[in-house]
Amino acid sequence: MSGPNTDYDPVEVTPLQAEEVEAARDAAIAAIEQAGDLEALKQARLDHAGDRSPLALANREIGALPPQARKDAGQRIGRARKDVSEALAARQVVLEAEHEERMLVEETVDVTLPTDRRRAGGRHPVTLQSELVADLFVAMGWEVAEGPVVEAEWLNFDALNLGPDHPARTMQDTFWTEPADHHVVLRTQTSPVQARTMLTRKPPIYVVCPGRVFRTDEYDATHSPMFHQVEGLVVDEGITMAHLKGTLDHFAGQLFGDGIDTRFRPSYFPFTEPSAEVDVRCFVCRGVAVSSAGDACRTCRGEGWIEWGGCGVVNPRVLTACGVDPEVYTGFAFGMGIDRSFMFRHGLEDLRPLFEGDVRFSAAFGTEI
Ligand code: DAH
Repeated sequence: MSGPNTDYDPVEVTPLQAEEVEAARDAAIAAIEQAGDLEALKQARLDHAGDRSPLALANREIGALPPQARKDAGQRIGRARKDVSEALAARQVVLEAEHEERMLVEETVDVTLPTDRRRAGGRHPVTLQSELVADLFVAMGWEVAEGPVVEAEWLNFDALNLGPDHPARTMQDTFWTEPADHHVVLRTQTSPVQARTMLTRKPPIYVVCPGRVFRTDEYDATHSPMFHQVEGLVVDEGITMAHLKGTLDHFAGQLFGDGIDTRFRPSYFPFTEPSAEVDVRCFVCRGVAVSSAGDACRTCRGEGWIEWGGCGVVNPRVLTACGVDPEVYTGFAFGMGIDRSFMFRHGLEDLRPLFEGDVRFSAAFGTEI
């Protein structure tokens, strides 16, 4: 039987010898110091502190030693491993800081560099205003109707009770196209879309018609030979002036703000009977006519109201001309300037920038460019 191996000399176990442990530790620390980046440090950690590193292997040998030798070797190796792990942690901190700094430099954005980004273009404020108006009516179940800007004289005038000799024809300075005997005009109003709608569909009719119109006006701060209108037309059974008033009050409130309503002043249009000019309550002074400073309100010029458009109950002669039986149906119509509405909504005194295509103007109204 063999007794305990008291002759066993731990010095003979090479990996546990002091010089070997020191050499392994020095090699580890040298590799850690040389690691130039986090990737290299990872490799150094694996080689010198991993399961198969010399110090880990030496550590495994300790268990086979007699108690005293085990203690010495344990302390020696423990110290060496501690040195290595401290060196690893310190190098990790340094390399991480370097990495972060490098990323900051590499990812720096030079905001002063020239850009080749092109402007995407934007929607014109008048287009947006037309769509806004159309949307208000679509929300009430109305439809949007359109017609051509080059229009038959008959639809622009005659169908709307403006016969050839009607004095009101001269009020709308008309662009006629050549040859004159073709009787074609640039439409002077959006009202021919009323006639087109009644001729092509049966009541009930609830349509709104935004569009471009033309008159031989001088181009100045308040006139342009081309501008925009929006027409409304309702034809149904039992329609009265009260429906018209309620609709316009709602329209005004939606466009200019809650509580902004309208008033009617008696007027004349050949296509409506009775007819009215419609004013909208000033949305700045809210009808008080004086500003908060006590001066006359600048938006409505101290009137409390702003002229907005024309309206009325559809003339039975127009219904008849467009194939609608006036004994069964009645209707109302209205027409407003879109550019004008836009101008007083935004406090503009001059309408020309609306037609001159400068994006710096459009951009000021929040259109994307
Ligand atoms: N077409 C008219 C104009 O350009 C405006 C107008 C007035 C339209 C009364 C209407 C209306 O539909 O009923 O001056």
